[in-house]
Order: sequence, then C-alpha cells, then structure tokens
Amino acid sequence: MSINKHRVRTASMVLCFSVMVFSGAGFSGELSKSKAGPGKNEAGNEKAVKENYDLNCAPCHGETGKGNGPLAVESVGGIKPRNLNNAKLLTTRTDEELFKVTKFGGASTGFFGRMPGWRDSFTDVEINQIVRYIRKKICMCEYKK
Ligand code: HEC
Repeated sequence: MSINKHRVRTASMVLCFSVMVFSGAGFSGELSKSKAGPGKNEAGNEKAVKENYDLNCAPCHGETGKGNGPLAVESVGGIKPRNLNNAKLLTTRTDEELFKVTKFGGASTGFFGRMPGWRDSFTDVEINQIVRYIRKKICMCEYKK
C-alpha cells in the first residue's frame, strides 16, 4: 500500500518535472531560433509583421490567436495563453494596454507572469505593428469605450 503510494508520488513528480523541462527546453529552443531581433522586421509590410507574430506569439497564442499554439502546454501551470481572437474581450482593451502587456509581459499589467515581455526582441515600432496586426487580422476589432 505504502509502496504504491510512493510509486504514484514518484511517477507524478517525474511527470511534473519532465513537463517543466520539456516546456522550458521547447520554449527557449524555438524562440531563440525564431527571435527576430529588435528592428529586424521593422519594415512594417504585412509579411514582416505576420512573421513576427507567427514566430513569436503563435507558439502560445496560435496562428489564429485562439490560445492553442503548440506551447500552450504552458497552461500546465494553469494559465492559458489569452484568446486574442476574442473580440468581445479585446474591445475592452486599449491599444496602449495591448502594447504594454506585449512589451513588458503579463506581470506588468497585473496578469500572471506567464506572458513574457518582448522589449528585448522588438522595437516599439514593431510592437505597435503587432498590436495593429492583432486588431486587423486576429480579433478584427477595435477598442470600444
Ligand atoms: C509563453 C507563451 C506566450 C507567448 C510566446 C506569448 N504570449 Fe501573450 N500571453 C500568454 C499568456 C499565458 C497570457 C495570459 C496573461 C497572463 O495571465 O499572464 C498572455 C496574454 C497576452 C495578452 C493580454 C490580452 C489581454 O487580456 O489584455 C496579449 C495582448 C498578448 N498576450 C500578446 C502577445 C503577443 C503580441 C505575443 C508575441 C509578441 C505573445 N503574446 C506571446 C502567453 C504567451
């Protein structure tokens, strides 16, 4: 009986640990490959902006923004990447708020820290372009007072 309990506990610890390692390794691995580097994609044409989103945000938020990207395994910690396709939610957010959470991360706006900040990867110009991209192509919505 106690052996069984011990086994179960060990197994869940191992599982927990491998999830942590797996998501950690997958995360930094994919991002370091795909990090644009500040200003690299500043041209602002649609292809460049889409690439910034697809390579850096889609791993968690998904290409269509639904919060179901391959790294949404982060939600193991209980925090699901936000559904950026949710127009009802995003009409309550100003562009400044979307900019801030993207630049400084979730913790900066009182959300959980699972949303990383991007100030080392993107210039302000690029972040603004990504915010426009979310508005035009993902939620297809603007802020409503
Ligand atoms: C590691 C996974 C991950 C990546 C990569 C990621 N996000 Fe997030 N994002 C989250 C999580 C989780 C939240 C939920 C916020 C929280 O509670 O911490 C979030 C929240 C947000 C929000 C807040 C929406 C609201 O409710 O106001 C915005 C905007 C956002 N992300 C944009 C982006 C953009 C743009 C990128 C790419 C530059 C990006 N995210 C990359 C995980 C991620």
